[in-house]
Amino acid sequence: MKRDFIHVDDLTPDEIHQVLDLAREVKTKFKRREIFQPFANQSLAMIFAKPSARTRISFETGFTRMGGHAIYLSPQDIEIGKREAVKDVARVISRYNDLIMARLFAHAHIRELAAHATVPVINALTDYNHPCQIMADIFTVQEARSHLDNLKIVYVGDGNNIVHSWLRLAARLPLHFVCACPPAYAPEAATLELAREAGLSTIEIIHDPMAAVQDADVVYTDVWASMGQKHEMEERKKHFQGFQVDTRMMDAARAGALFMHCLPAMRGLEVSDEVMESPASIVFTQAENRMHVQNAIMLFLTGQG
Ligand code: CP
Ligand code: NVA
Repeated sequence: MKRDFIHVDDLTPDEIHQVLDLAREVKTKFKRREIFQPFANQSLAMIFAKPSARTRISFETGFTRMGGHAIYLSPQDIEIGKREAVKDVARVISRYNDLIMARLFAHAHIRELAAHATVPVINALTDYNHPCQIMADIFTVQEARSHLDNLKIVYVGDGNNIVHSWLRLAARLPLHFVCACPPAYAPEAATLELAREAGLSTIEIIHDPMAAVQDADVVYTDVWASMGQKHEMEERKKHFQGFQVDTRMMDAARAGALFMHCLPAMRGLEVSDEVMESPASIVFTQAENRMHVQNAIMLFLTGQG
């Protein structure tokens, strides 16, 4: 049976560690510029209904360097669900390509795509979640601290797709995960429930960011208005006053705490310029690791991991 990667908890804890170990191996090969072409004569269809820098570049570069051909399909190309039914796109692309990666608005569409495709489907972000990002994030934390024990991650900002992915990861790996958000911008209740019911992690949703970051090993943030919500920005800015990750907030975290952001960042809103440029900031390593972890995910899904 083919495997897809739609949610981070589609993987068991052992499989998550397997992918992280594989990502470490693949990263070493890439850094040494070894010839490594497991995807020779294969192709990856990359469907984008939303803009992207990191996701497009990292998937295309990674797959190409692993010997394959990656095809970028822009929001104007397929118009999935509009020009053509999702289930038809799924079956057509499966006849041409060995893997599908898609960034879509509706989460129901990525599920439908996976249900009807006969090749593995990778979720490259929906309104609901961003599992490739969270795998790269936890890989980056492991690399920086050399272990994942007693890890307190404090996310400050909007309870969005990134938070849903952290919550789902917390259902698979033991974490202390805190989301500090304005009351009206909390993550989805059902996902919170799923994470708590797994009984592995400590999960808190609180509304005071300065209190939240106490003892944090990692302070994480993301934009206050995600793709598809940009028109709400002015209204959101009012609710997010006091939620900027600035030097004062980083100083309230554990000594040596790391700063992370999935990027793109809006400097001066959710994060100060100073924090982005500080030694605590590992955002560019985090961005680089997207490629290595996604390479490992593609190898794993195609039975080469
Ligand atoms: N973090 C991330 O997914 O970036 P892009 O939107 O640029 O792909
Ligand atoms: N929450 C952001 C993440 C971008 C990578 C968005 O969905 O726009």
